[in-house]
Amino acid sequence: MTSLQQIASVAKKAALAAREIQLKGLRDGTQISLKGGKTHDLVTVADVESEKAIARTVAEAFPDHNLLGEEGGDQGRSSEWLWVVDPIDGTTNYSRHIPYFSTSIAVYHQGRPVFGLVANPLADETFFAIEGEGAYLNDTPVQCSASTEFTQSLFITGFYYDRGKNIELTLDALRTFYGKGIMGIRRFGSAALDLCYLAAGRAEAFFEIGLNAWDFAAGAFIATQAGARVTDAAGRPLRLKKSYVVGAVPALHPQVLADLEPWKRAEELSSW
Ligand code: IPD
Ligand code: CA
Ligand code: CA
Repeated sequence: MTSLQQIASVAKKAALAAREIQLKGLRDGTQISLKGGKTHDLVTVADVESEKAIARTVAEAFPDHNLLGEEGGDQGRSSEWLWVVDPIDGTTNYSRHIPYFSTSIAVYHQGRPVFGLVANPLADETFFAIEGEGAYLNDTPVQCSASTEFTQSLFITGFYYDRGKNIELTLDALRTFYGKGIMGIRRFGSAALDLCYLAAGRAEAFFEIGLNAWDFAAGAFIATQAGARVTDAAGRPLRLKKSYVVGAVPALHPQVLADLEPWKRAEELSSW
């Protein structure tokens, strides 16, 4: 029988294997290309190789589990267990040696998230959560912030790759939140880590349009286990599909959602 402790230990081993490849890529150089002919969405050889290493580690331990990875897609195995993997979240940062990127691994059982791990190899920070056991940074438990006021709150966002309607909605949101007197808004460049910063009380809210399941699955689970709320723009639980993502500490989540009312309307109209 598969236990969540076994899952945690295999996920940590997989993240370490990915880390080796990523550090080697930074030392020796790694080939960078554009994804599917898009203008700004990068992929490196280290992305592809580290996902392969993660998939190999998972398959050795759990040959019957399925895996959905950003680079390799869905392995298509019929299983109660699904691993959702982003080998490098923050490839733009990685390709420029900016030390804010991560490996993100979530595990779903019968459609529900039960485990999440997000590791920043250059900061030696591994966030993880096991269902019912809270969230951790390395070996220390973390809790989201107790802030109840916008004026004492730091927000994090991200910009969707396309330069159309969605970036306009994000820029409008910056104006809205600054108008409410928040401390500031950061754009760090790895949604998975951003959600872990919400988990660890380093920020009070996170909002981004157009994240894929592998970007948010682990981070959203970790933030939730640390006491935060993470939903789509209508306040519904996130599903394993491209999504509008709105996370915040419990006291502020209703207000953040209300301020993102235009996102809710755009989400209703979107085909995602
Ligand atoms: C990206 C990062 C970034 C977010 C983008 C994502 P990638 O993931 O999470 O912070 O703004 O929307 O696509 O492409 O580096 O794996
Ligand atoms: Ca990503
Ligand atoms: Ca990625």
